[in-house]
Amino acid sequence: MRPAAPLTTSSGTPSAAPPRPAGRPRLPRPQGKLSTAVLSALSAPSAPTPHSPLSTLRTPGNDALLTTTEAEAQHADPYGADLQLALYVLYELHYQGFDGVDDDREWDPALLAVRSALEKVFLRALRADVPSSVGAAEALDGLLVEPVADDGTSVSHHLRREGRLWQLREYAALRSPYHLKEADPHAWVIPRLRGRAKAGMVAVEFDEFGAGRAEDIHAQLFADLMADLGLETAYGHYLDLAPAEALATVNLMSLFGLHRSLRGALVGHFATVEVTSSPAARRLADAMRRTGAGPAAERFYDEHVEADAVHEQVVRREVVEGLLTDEPGLEPDVAFGIGATVHLEDRLAAHLLDAWRHDRTALRAPLAVTGRRWSEPPRCRTHENPDHRDSHLPGIQTPQISHP
Ligand SMILES: [Fe+2]
Ligand SMILES: [Fe+2]
Repeated sequence: MRPAAPLTTSSGTPSAAPPRPAGRPRLPRPQGKLSTAVLSALSAPSAPTPHSPLSTLRTPGNDALLTTTEAEAQHADPYGADLQLALYVLYELHYQGFDGVDDDREWDPALLAVRSALEKVFLRALRADVPSSVGAAEALDGLLVEPVADDGTSVSHHLRREGRLWQLREYAALRSPYHLKEADPHAWVIPRLRGRAKAGMVAVEFDEFGAGRAEDIHAQLFADLMADLGLETAYGHYLDLAPAEALATVNLMSLFGLHRSLRGALVGHFATVEVTSSPAARRLADAMRRTGAGPAAERFYDEHVEADAVHEQVVRREVVEGLLTDEPGLEPDVAFGIGATVHLEDRLAAHLLDAWRHDRTALRAPLAVTGRRWSEPPRCRTHENPDHRDSHLPGIQTPQISHP
């Protein structure tokens, strides 16, 4: 872990991150009845808030929202685009919110009731799909077993070995709903921990939030990576393109983070991220170098190779061991958090690799091609012109639409 940094630059002026587009994201397009109901409720010009008199909480709009949720949630695919998008939008009210949506909707009782109904469906599926027989230590040790060779199921192995630039761009776009708020969902757990677990958690989060330097906040480093890849860096810009499998991985963090009863699972999620990050980041940094993606794209993953090797030790020895010493009864929850994270990451990896092996986009629609660099076939790598930096690739193909 790096030492604490001063809050000023070497010139003595306050540190300042490179400018990022300001403003809140627009509400996304709905993907089915549940997300339509939620988005319609959020688009309504006025709605009850926590400050409204109790007698006004029941409105025709809220009644319709609750009726739709009750009817649809039980039959919805717990991992499908409709439920995951509806849940994502409701969670986002606790982060940056949306353009045109009142901040107070975060605590709108009707929306919280809908969120709870969707969470139950998601959580029930996760509990059914994640094996519960292993302990936390065993689950953590399982994460350390790296495949001896690429077994065909690892996205980072694929991208390092043969990933094309358009696949790296898709990967960055679909990960952006998390990485542009990296570490925020884990921060919810801090007031719910004590002693060693809290101290260790804050130490790691301090690094994730830039160790006192705004330009080093990992979310900012990811925005810089996106800029190198010719992507929009505005928060929430790619929400409409994110597949359900990607939204589910972000929703899992919010689900665990926003419920004190799931603090053990949140710690399990955090441990999984930190334990598996360093070797995967090394492969992704190699992929960025091989494709000439750019210095900021390399830096994001290089930073995680080093930082997460240290974070892993802190998380294992202080956060997980500290929590389980303090609250030994949470061991099954920590193991569940690890298992659920692996389960959803495996689903996402299967989706990505299946699409890319068939030269299809893994997004809901292909990314816009905004310049020659992203659309031209490769040329000689020795050329200085940045348009030629993809030269060693066998060819950049425009991916096909997999989700019309
Ligand atoms: Fe990070
Ligand atoms: Fe980390």
